[in-house]
Amino acid sequence: LLLGIDIGTQGAKVLVMDVNGEIQATGHHSYEFEVRQKGWAEQHPLQWWNGVVSALRKLWEKGIDPKNIRAIGVSGQMHSLVLLDKDKKELGTSILWNDVRTEEECLEIEQLVGKSNFFNITRNSVLPGFTAPKLQWIKKHEPSRYANIHHLMQPKDYIVFKLSEALSSDVSDASGTLWFDTAKRTWSKEIIDALEIPFEWLNEVHESQTVVGSVSGEAANVTGLIPGIPVVAGAGDNAAAALGNGIYEQGKGIVSVGTSGTVFAPLKSVPKLDGDDLSTLHLFCHCLPNTWHAMGVTLSAGMSLNWYKNTFSNLSYDELLSNVDNISAGAEGLIYLPYLNGERTPHNDASARGVFFGMNYQHTKDHFTRAVLEGVSFSLKDCLELIKRLNINIETLYVTGGAAKSPVWRTILSEVFNQPLVAFEEREGPAFGAALLAGLGIGVWNGPECFPAVFDNSQTTSVNLANVNAYKEIYKIYKELYHQLKPVYK
Ligand code: XUL
Repeated sequence: LLLGIDIGTQGAKVLVMDVNGEIQATGHHSYEFEVRQKGWAEQHPLQWWNGVVSALRKLWEKGIDPKNIRAIGVSGQMHSLVLLDKDKKELGTSILWNDVRTEEECLEIEQLVGKSNFFNITRNSVLPGFTAPKLQWIKKHEPSRYANIHHLMQPKDYIVFKLSEALSSDVSDASGTLWFDTAKRTWSKEIIDALEIPFEWLNEVHESQTVVGSVSGEAANVTGLIPGIPVVAGAGDNAAAALGNGIYEQGKGIVSVGTSGTVFAPLKSVPKLDGDDLSTLHLFCHCLPNTWHAMGVTLSAGMSLNWYKNTFSNLSYDELLSNVDNISAGAEGLIYLPYLNGERTPHNDASARGVFFGMNYQHTKDHFTRAVLEGVSFSLKDCLELIKRLNINIETLYVTGGAAKSPVWRTILSEVFNQPLVAFEEREGPAFGAALLAGLGIGVWNGPECFPAVFDNSQTTSVNLANVNAYKEIYKIYKELYHQLKPVYK
């Protein structure tokens, strides 16, 4: 068996699959993030580790024998900054990927490195969600914490460390730090020096499938795992989710709706983007050698629905979505902008906030629910439109995450995109990809072309042309609303 672990923003997921790709059992443990000030988002790394321990316990309760686990892969939320002190103890909370407090720090580090230099090396713009400005913020605002830093890493690296004591990073997650040379797939000494970061703070960076350690005696005691099981470097959640859905070749794309929403397209090489309006697209390493990907990110995708559900109803997701189909496309004029905590792609605007526009007496709760699904879908369309400008032909578009589980949301997405979407049943995106990486790491498969034929049981959405046409018009209003509101967001 192969074990995949995913450190999400709303919970830890674990999954074991056999070498035929059949999922044997899953476990989940939910947690939340803390918002101490507007625009902030934090979690303590121990929330993740305790979440993993609790989720693993569910596997054992379901009858999985840890003796049968041959390798472990970990994926996780990208960019969030984990700090350890000289004793390798957690140094405070982690500032998360969806925290947008660092607009000023982005400008500062851009000046230290030089904007075009930054861009040439990392192939990305300096955005508040990425890791480097978070460290700069701590340097400025919490100098005593900064003075105690000995190690820094991303969430899944911290879990790899807790499991195996290995201090490692992988190319896909490292791409989101901004101190990484994305074309050369290695840390950028030039940026690290310019930002005056001691090089020894960084973990060694590996390709995602590399075995970097094995389960320690201490981790085995806490988790119930067997000491000595190999652990691979793992990957950022988006790369892992893409791999888990078989998306690693140019020509395919995948839309993923977790807490955030992403549109992801593999690339054979990493281009230098032309034009400021493309600056919110990310160009990162994929979790397979010699492969990269482009990505756009909607910060509050599943999080929009989660916030809406918790704030306005006591219903389950299934109950909440059960009547959405009875509401016509466009929710009779009700439009939702999903900018609950600012937006990354396409606006890079930390001040933007959520909006319900166009309410009238006819609108019911179900109209609001539909508007939320549609608003998130419009935001993901914004991401897709930018990726298309790289002139890559996305022949097949897949969908995973929350939206993939809901037939009505899947249909809305594909009608907003005007493109059929392929979804797999029972696919736990990132954790499944992490388990595949574990299998690659120990040589179960020689490459992704040898993966088991688990990618067969797919469903494809069909689109209603009248809805496609309705959405084309509403999308124009959706875009116009942001531009009209921008001056008053500040
Ligand atoms: C990607 C990003 C998010 C997180 C979510 O750039 O910020 O998708 O990875 O976990």
